[in-house]
Amino acid sequence: MATLTTAANGKRWATKYPEIGTGPVPTEPYISSDYFQRERERLFRRAWLYVGRVEDVAQAGDYFVKEIEVCDASILVVRGRDGVVRGFHNICTHRCNKLVWDPCGTSRSFSCRFHGWTFKPDGRLTGVPDEGQFYDLKKSELGLRPVPLDSWKGFIFVNLDQNPKESLAEYLGQLKNELIGQYPFDRPTDCWSWKVDLQCNWKVTLDAFSEAYHAPFVHRQTVKSVVTDRGNPLAHPLAIRIYGRHYMYSIPGNPYHKPGPIAQLAYRYAPLMTRFRDVEIMKRLPPGVNPTGSDKWGFDTYHIFPNILVSMFGEWWHIHHFQPLGVDRTRWELRVFFPKAENAGQRFTQEYTKCLLQDNMLEDLSTVEGSQRGMASRVVTHFTLQDQEILIRHNQKIVEEFVNAQ
Ligand code: FES
Ligand SMILES: [Fe+2]
Repeated sequence: MATLTTAANGKRWATKYPEIGTGPVPTEPYISSDYFQRERERLFRRAWLYVGRVEDVAQAGDYFVKEIEVCDASILVVRGRDGVVRGFHNICTHRCNKLVWDPCGTSRSFSCRFHGWTFKPDGRLTGVPDEGQFYDLKKSELGLRPVPLDSWKGFIFVNLDQNPKESLAEYLGQLKNELIGQYPFDRPTDCWSWKVDLQCNWKVTLDAFSEAYHAPFVHRQTVKSVVTDRGNPLAHPLAIRIYGRHYMYSIPGNPYHKPGPIAQLAYRYAPLMTRFRDVEIMKRLPPGVNPTGSDKWGFDTYHIFPNILVSMFGEWWHIHHFQPLGVDRTRWELRVFFPKAENAGQRFTQEYTKCLLQDNMLEDLSTVEGSQRGMASRVVTHFTLQDQEILIRHNQKIVEEFVNAQ
């Protein structure tokens, strides 16, 4: 197997994106505490960061709290009575206690546990017990501290720079005009998620999902035969496209894949849910996927810099969120969105897909801590990357630009 080779794509990505280069890539940015400190200050405190979906705050008073550990920030996202979704630092303006402790909920106001100061969903301070004992208390100046917040296609982002250098639209750039913008993210879904803390740098986890070179090896027990076929045994992507700091890749599917008996059942109940498709099913794919129009399409993944990947598999989709906790610690969270099941058969297909996905993700994550330990030994100081791993180079180049910016 190790001698497998294919010319399915030639070496076309470095030719298409010569500015990314072909040389060795240093591992120091994955293990250096100094580098992580600079990422913290110059990248995560300046970039637009995904925190959740608009469906998470569908009604007035709905809220959620997002901890952004890398910036020592706790962010409260809440929809006001006026329908506007706002972001605030989740900090009481009295003596800085954490204001909201529940991860999500619905409330008409937020009262601090410490001394009972009360704030409205629009941030106003409205209640101060024993108010007469204060000196020159200006309640109008003691509202919750706002955080710049904006959304695109239902993805909510915040910026921890009070005066972001770019709007969210400018930050997304060309990405917002691409095919992903047509995908029906706003359809009602059944959503569930997994969260795991890993002993590795956040970029190790991002890299693990930024190439398909590993598919025939890491996924030999699960989806190898779903994404490879005899003409493309190493799962060369159908497309890799770079949009400034963001990117996408389109992974092939194998129409000749022979599903097992349970997979066949799942396919019968919800054909657009499953990863193997025939020509007729391919015609019913939702808009926004399969940029090359291939009849051997599997799924598409978009990277929104710095730390989410959005993957669309026909009717269902998911978000990977790689949240740095330390130079060698990362919280990986996967949120999966299925179309609302309309019958027991479709529900069965969801459960089948969950199981397959869980196995698949366990395989992907099985490599990351070993890679981190290997890098930490500083025996091998550079990655030697092939053409199909170009997005790993790209990631590091963009991180480097942020880290070196003044
Ligand atoms: S710290 Fe919140 S009311 Fe005192
Ligand atoms: Fe994988």
